[in-house]
Amino acid sequence: MTELAIIGGTGLTLLNEIVITRQEAWKTPYGEPSAALVFGRFGGKEVIFLARHGNPPTIPPHRVNYRGNIWALKESGVKKIISINSVGGITATMYPGRLVFPNQIIDYTHSRAHTFFEDDLTALTHVDFTEPYCEELRATLISAARKAALAPADSATYGATQGPRLETAREIERMERDGCDVVGMTGMPEAALSRELGLCYAACAVVANWAAGRSHEKITMQAIEANLTAAMENIHRVLANTIPII
Ligand code: HPA
Repeated sequence: MTELAIIGGTGLTLLNEIVITRQEAWKTPYGEPSAALVFGRFGGKEVIFLARHGNPPTIPPHRVNYRGNIWALKESGVKKIISINSVGGITATMYPGRLVFPNQIIDYTHSRAHTFFEDDLTALTHVDFTEPYCEELRATLISAARKAALAPADSATYGATQGPRLETAREIERMERDGCDVVGMTGMPEAALSRELGLCYAACAVVANWAAGRSHEKITMQAIEANLTAAMENIHRVLANTIPII
């Protein structure tokens, strides 16, 4: 049984290191996931890879079928999920290219299907989300990043925005006052849905740009993509150091 899944974000539609054994389209009570589940081997282990934005990537953050994705992974036997997300850096140490392992979330998203617990309930359910990420997996990822001689941020608050537009400078200032260190569009409801299904979920965020108003340069897709491409090798090193030991 394949117990580990990697959800790839912007710039990570497929992992080169995965030796693909099969791909499977999946259907769930919540619709189809973003893409076929890719079954393969990485670092001697069976893994499943899922491209969050589809393959080719055409699904914007607010249209991702988060419930379909997490349900499909649960149903295929997954117990742990490593999520790769690109983010903007808000606080001073969240510079482009840095890998960040957030430990908290503030959710600013809206109008997304964000729970499995709303229809046909036999009892009301409120999952504990005090610590939104799986601490054990987070710790493993952080030590893997250190082993790869990277300088990861080992705690950060991830502010999840609705997108797909980027933020205004004042919105970023407000997010900083709220306590956010990085900003992204896909961290929620993915983390909460994983918790609802009892999955161990941790995020590896890569800073793609300074958030709005934090640099004089305009934020362009080209600059974001260039930073993500440059950071991809570091993500691969983290995964290569993590997967064999979990
Ligand atoms: N804001 C929101 N999401 C993002 C950003 C950003 O600046 N960069 C990458 N994802």
